[in-house]
Amino acid sequence: MSILDGSVETTKAEPGFFSIQDSDLTSLKDKVVLITGGSSGIGLAAVKICVSLRAKVVVGDVNECPEKSDAVTFQKVDVTDWKQQSALFKKAIEVHGAVDHCFANAGIGPTDTFTKDTFDSAGELEPPNMKTMEINLNGPIFTSKLALHYLRKNPEGGSLVITASASSFTPFVATDYGVAKHGALGLMRNLDANLKDSNIRVNCITPLWTASGLVPAEMMKEHLGIISQPPEAAARSALLLMADGERRGQTMFSKRSMFKEIDSIAMKAMVEAVAPGPGDVPADEAKGKAFNEMFSKGS
Ligand SMILES: NC(=O)c1ccc[n+]([C@@H]2O[C@H](COP(=O)([O-])OP(=O)(O)OC[C@H]3O[C@@H](n4cnc5c(N)ncnc54)[C@H](O)[C@@H]3O)[C@@H](O)[C@H]2O)c1
Repeated sequence: MSILDGSVETTKAEPGFFSIQDSDLTSLKDKVVLITGGSSGIGLAAVKICVSLRAKVVVGDVNECPEKSDAVTFQKVDVTDWKQQSALFKKAIEVHGAVDHCFANAGIGPTDTFTKDTFDSAGELEPPNMKTMEINLNGPIFTSKLALHYLRKNPEGGSLVITASASSFTPFVATDYGVAKHGALGLMRNLDANLKDSNIRVNCITPLWTASGLVPAEMMKEHLGIISQPPEAAARSALLLMADGERRGQTMFSKRSMFKEIDSIAMKAMVEAVAPGPGDVPADEAKGKAFNEMFSKGS
């Protein structure tokens, strides 16, 4: 059974999973949290929790944010547009003077499996539809570059959380969505590899089925027998990664409001499978930096 089947309902906490308490998130009070896709689902739940924690929130979304509060600044943003995202960060600086945490969360569902023949009016095979890739992968890359630029300005640093997905590490028929989410996980891992020495932390969340505009809970249950967790659960996993200054390079999985850090488990299994010997991989940081320098000299 694929983990994406999600057809087993349990209410008991399972071994190895933990829960997140409000007290785990209190360090977000007075922090400035920038959220893309904050007008619905997981992003909106994160906005509401931030408001309840007395954090300040800056939301960028193509749709208006329904959460109206003095603590929430909304700006219309399409995450595929660099200038619009850049303007969102400038707005955060204008209103609050800093960005402390950033949640690269906006996303849409699948558009193209890349497996079907489609033809234009001249009978030529059409190129793949890249819409989901542009929003779900290019979008977070733009958000990440901007986030790192502004977080570097904070003497105490800050954090970036990217919304990946359970489909980041398992086969899924929604090809473009799965590829983009594999990319989002890769984005987190590779940014983190560059930021080991810094006070900027990068993490990602990989929620399993979560009730939202993208995946309405009733539809999922009725048609597929899938039990969704509430959007607050995935939102809390993102906020924990911001609030806990010890967490970096982590992948926070969530299902039915239970949480587990899984990248340490996945990477251990990967290293064991590869069984690296002397000279096989540029495993340490020094080799990684030398690798980057080698390529920057060549370009
Ligand atoms: N719901 C799930 O089961 C699930 C599981 C894993 C990951 N995710 C991811 O969670 C994230 C949030 O999705 P959700 O499930 O809360 O769905 P949602 O549809 O409720 O929320 C997505 C938000 O992103 C916004 N958005 C879409 N395209 C945008 C664009 N081009 N620019 C700016 N904003 C845009 C939408 O307006 C919406 O407010 C997505 O990245 C999604 O892929 C969802």
